[in-house]
Amino acid sequence: MSKVGTAPVTVAVPARTSGPLALQGGAPVASPAIGVVKVEITESDIDAALVVLKSGMLAQGKNVLALEEAFVKASGCKHAVACANGTCALQLAYEPLFDPGDEVLVPAWSYFATASMIVARGGIPVFCDADPITYGIDVADAASKVTPRTAAIAATHIYGNPVDIDGVEGLAAKHGLSVIYDAAQSHLATYKGRGIGAYGDAVTYSFYATKNLTTGEGGMVTTNDDELAAKLRLLRSHGEPQKYTHTMIGYNYRMTDLEAAIGVSQMKRLADLTQRRRANAAKLDRLIAQIPGLTPPTPTPGGEHVYHLYPVRLDEPRFRSVENGLGVRDSFCKALNAEGVGTAIHYPRSLTRQPVFDKPGVRHCAVADRLSRELFCIPVHQALTDAQIGQIGDALAKVADALRA
Ligand SMILES: Cc1ncc(COP(=O)(O)O)c(C=O)c1O
Repeated sequence: MSKVGTAPVTVAVPARTSGPLALQGGAPVASPAIGVVKVEITESDIDAALVVLKSGMLAQGKNVLALEEAFVKASGCKHAVACANGTCALQLAYEPLFDPGDEVLVPAWSYFATASMIVARGGIPVFCDADPITYGIDVADAASKVTPRTAAIAATHIYGNPVDIDGVEGLAAKHGLSVIYDAAQSHLATYKGRGIGAYGDAVTYSFYATKNLTTGEGGMVTTNDDELAAKLRLLRSHGEPQKYTHTMIGYNYRMTDLEAAIGVSQMKRLADLTQRRRANAAKLDRLIAQIPGLTPPTPTPGGEHVYHLYPVRLDEPRFRSVENGLGVRDSFCKALNAEGVGTAIHYPRSLTRQPVFDKPGVRHCAVADRLSRELFCIPVHQALTDAQIGQIGDALAKVADALRA
């Protein structure tokens, strides 16, 4: 439950900013506006990329190896296999761990790829509800959906918050399931003092442009299983142990050395950036706890959150919309954006409500549906200043006061 890096909180309590909402012609709280993400590419990242460009050796090479080595050290795992993005990391991990026709337990509250790659493998996603406090998969709901055809569980460490790993592993052990964790949003998160890479059969990561560590596009699969690691390396590159000798069907899911060089450079400061996110989250927690109707995120017991995102939960019945036809949460965000605070909705609908999955027979998930109406993400990124965090608190308080039902 720790909020590590809880530096002394010096941010003032929200000064119930009076005056009309910026949306209605008042002065915005934050000017210039505070973006919900801030992608920082440093001179060191650029220098590392330039070295690769000047070398002319752009494809997978020594920088990919260096990124994999750095990731092994940082994530508590034995092997790391870099690949082109977090979606193909899932596809690579799924292929050896369940067969076409198998059922796979998956959270309804996750990014699309966690479930879509199950289908790409020929598996059947069985959607499970979210825990209403931590937003990870509800293990009891997952347990109630196990059948003789269930072969695996794919659980997401959502927003940077480790899932209830003990619960997931207990369920998997009872039914002999493979375990894949989607950690696209959770680099460097830990559970019970160990890196999340120490758990499960495979863990997948994304290095998309807005992630805590980015290579523009990029991904990684980690595992502690020697045989699985060897298979992942083959699958990543056309099942080709030697040039032009193909022992299995594989893909070209390789990462470029240019991307990897940026990743290696960023790995050197990832721990520091993560601490800054945690310190910012601790300050935001304090401010939001004082605003009735808003709830800050809750780390999973035993887990150390890395705050890729900071989801605020709005108790929908306690607020009203400013505009006919606009939902309460979206209305709240519109007012907040006008005050100069960026927001993002992760996600506007549960996976069972995605047109591709919302077919006759699909079982909808009540908590996930409610989260899709009540959660919104605010800035927590590494570049926030204390003054900006104070402005975020003021803007939240101002909008909450103005839109209270
Ligand atoms: C939980 C989760 N899984 C998978 C992915 C897919 O990663 P990528 O965009 O690198 O393919 C993402 C990316 O947003 C994600 O957030």
